[in-house]
Amino acid sequence: MPQRKLFVTTALPYANGKFHIGHIMEYIQADIWVRFQRMQGHEVHFVGADDAHGAPIMIAAEKAGVTPQAFVAEIAAGRPEYLKGFLIAFDNWSHTDSPENHELCQAIYRDLKAADLIDVRSIEQFYDPDKGMFLPDRFIKGECPKCHAKDQFGDNCEVCGAVYAPTDLINPYSALSGAVPTLKSSEHHFFRLSDPRCVAYLEQWTQDGKLQPEVANKVREWFTRDENGKSGLNDWDISRDAPYFGIEIPDAPGKYFYVWFDAPIGYLASFKNHLAKIGRDYEQTMKEVEQYHFIGKDIVTFHTLFWPALLHFSGRKAPDNVFVHGHLTVNNEKMSKSRGTGLDPLKYLGLGMNPEWLRYYLAAKLSARNEDIDFNPEDFVARVNADLVGKFVNIASRAVKFVPGGKLVAGDAASLQPQLLVDRVKALYEGRDYGKALRDIMALADEVNLRFDTAAPWKLVKEGKADEAARIGSECLEAFKVLSACLKPVLPQLAAQAEAFLACAPLDWANAATPMGAGHQVGEYRHLMQRVDMKLVEALFEAPSEVGAPSPQPCAAGARGREEQPAPEGRKSEGTPGGEELAPEITIDDFTKIDLRIAKIVDCKAVEGSKKLLQLTLDVGEGRTRNVFSGIASAYQPADLIGKLTVMVANLAPRKMKFGVSEGMVLAASHGDEKAQPGIYVLEPTAGAQPGLRVR
Ligand code: 2FM
Ligand code: ZN
Repeated sequence: MPQRKLFVTTALPYANGKFHIGHIMEYIQADIWVRFQRMQGHEVHFVGADDAHGAPIMIAAEKAGVTPQAFVAEIAAGRPEYLKGFLIAFDNWSHTDSPENHELCQAIYRDLKAADLIDVRSIEQFYDPDKGMFLPDRFIKGECPKCHAKDQFGDNCEVCGAVYAPTDLINPYSALSGAVPTLKSSEHHFFRLSDPRCVAYLEQWTQDGKLQPEVANKVREWFTRDENGKSGLNDWDISRDAPYFGIEIPDAPGKYFYVWFDAPIGYLASFKNHLAKIGRDYEQTMKEVEQYHFIGKDIVTFHTLFWPALLHFSGRKAPDNVFVHGHLTVNNEKMSKSRGTGLDPLKYLGLGMNPEWLRYYLAAKLSARNEDIDFNPEDFVARVNADLVGKFVNIASRAVKFVPGGKLVAGDAASLQPQLLVDRVKALYEGRDYGKALRDIMALADEVNLRFDTAAPWKLVKEGKADEAARIGSECLEAFKVLSACLKPVLPQLAAQAEAFLACAPLDWANAATPMGAGHQVGEYRHLMQRVDMKLVEALFEAPSEVGAPSPQPCAAGARGREEQPAPEGRKSEGTPGGEELAPEITIDDFTKIDLRIAKIVDCKAVEGSKKLLQLTLDVGEGRTRNVFSGIASAYQPADLIGKLTVMVANLAPRKMKFGVSEGMVLAASHGDEKAQPGIYVLEPTAGAQPGLRVR
């Protein structure tokens, strides 16, 4: 097969948070494909970058008291730990505020303008007079026009699910300053996606059979025409007004590209940056490469409409394909985009858990389809132990004992038809059907183990048939080599250990099924992989100790722990304030570790199945809400609390509880002996306090 040149990316993560397990899953999916392609001898450029721009990052940086650039740089500094840890080998990692991206965005914009696809028109938007800025939808709050829930976001209501324009909100206010926003008009730049040229091109691009069928079907709905024959594609607002952390629009002072305009162009910018480092010409290489993007299902519109149209109509090549994956749930729990799930990737690594366990498990669940997959702890332990250790590694450790001096003898490994497996597995990797590939690989491992058990070489040795035992051992080691090659894209580290043990050339698709042959000397066998201990997995999901421990604090009526942790005996003390001893002395440094914030209770609900807990939706001024479970149901009706301000511990690690994840703890007072002196009193600040203010 002639050598292909591939340019592969994953979605660029926003630079306002650490990686969560959803990012890691996407990167592992792409990394496996990249490694598979490299094993065919293809040239692959695998690049990523931080998505640096936009209002949320600008605001987060302002809150942190640093420049957006410094804020992004700090997030970027944390990336390698995850990428190295999970063996994800990007060739380059850049960011969208790079000089290459500034230059490319402006060039693409100019080309679109020359193609008469940019329109400038005035629109009215909410403006925060205190902050002096236009407010993005997520930073405008108010009463839902449909169900009248208070403190809902400007684009949709989290209580009734209604979708509306920010201007539909009743009593809108700025989530940044609390000010009442005014309507102000300003000029915006639009990419004319509704132009018949764009519609015709995109209908063809999305429906020519390259996209996954379920993705193409979904996309088809967007082209539905109205009774006048007008397609459903609307022009796309690609500009934002200053102040905005972004790239300036040429010849339009005070106007910046909307983050979603410059983010995908960041793929090209990171590639350009990479090519400069390896001394290759960008324009020339762009002509030679096939371009593929791995993305999640929530950003399909951007990648199948805006992105190919931007590229094509600016005179550039559109992507060859976009590979869409579903979401990862952990224990069937949905992931929050900003906070992830209860599976913390760094904690996984910190516990010394093998990254290849996770790579194998996720690969075993992934298919070519855009469907959600679930991480289930018991299933994880069972699959890794049964397949990787019980089936695969076991072959080498058992077989080598019957090959005297590690010198292979002639055998009949060919009857296992290794080339057939290799060809099947290659086709499955190419189509990203990793789960099926691994099932085929494990089916061969089963066959090899069965052959070994049936031949029972340990008996043959006892019967004086050591030569026959050596033949079986050699056949199994030949098969182990084929299996190692087939697993190499998923398990690069284990494959490298296998190559060292087998003393063979680096495994690739050309040599995978070629026997090492009689007389080949394998190396010394060293244990290749540990089994997963369920205790490690339990530790992975365990809440941090300070959260799970029984709380001696009189104020900790809350939230986490109360449902599961009854007050320990011996903490009650007659004659002491509040019925218990003061806790041991702490320093001011101990205290400042606890980040207490004013929180607004925007919603409160009873928890089905719990008499003690209430579920609170809290606004801590972060531009999103938090979910907190609090053990205060005996003292409050949900309606008593909605709209009130309180104090919460805002930097407590999220904790998975029976009813969902709790993202903080509300402060409340109670007597040390709650039975004798019942009563729980949620703290409430005096008038004027705003959500997000720190309590010191
Ligand atoms: O949804 C997100 O996390 C975006 N930061 C993805 C951007 S992908 C690409 F366009 F850069
Ligand atoms: Zn509503």
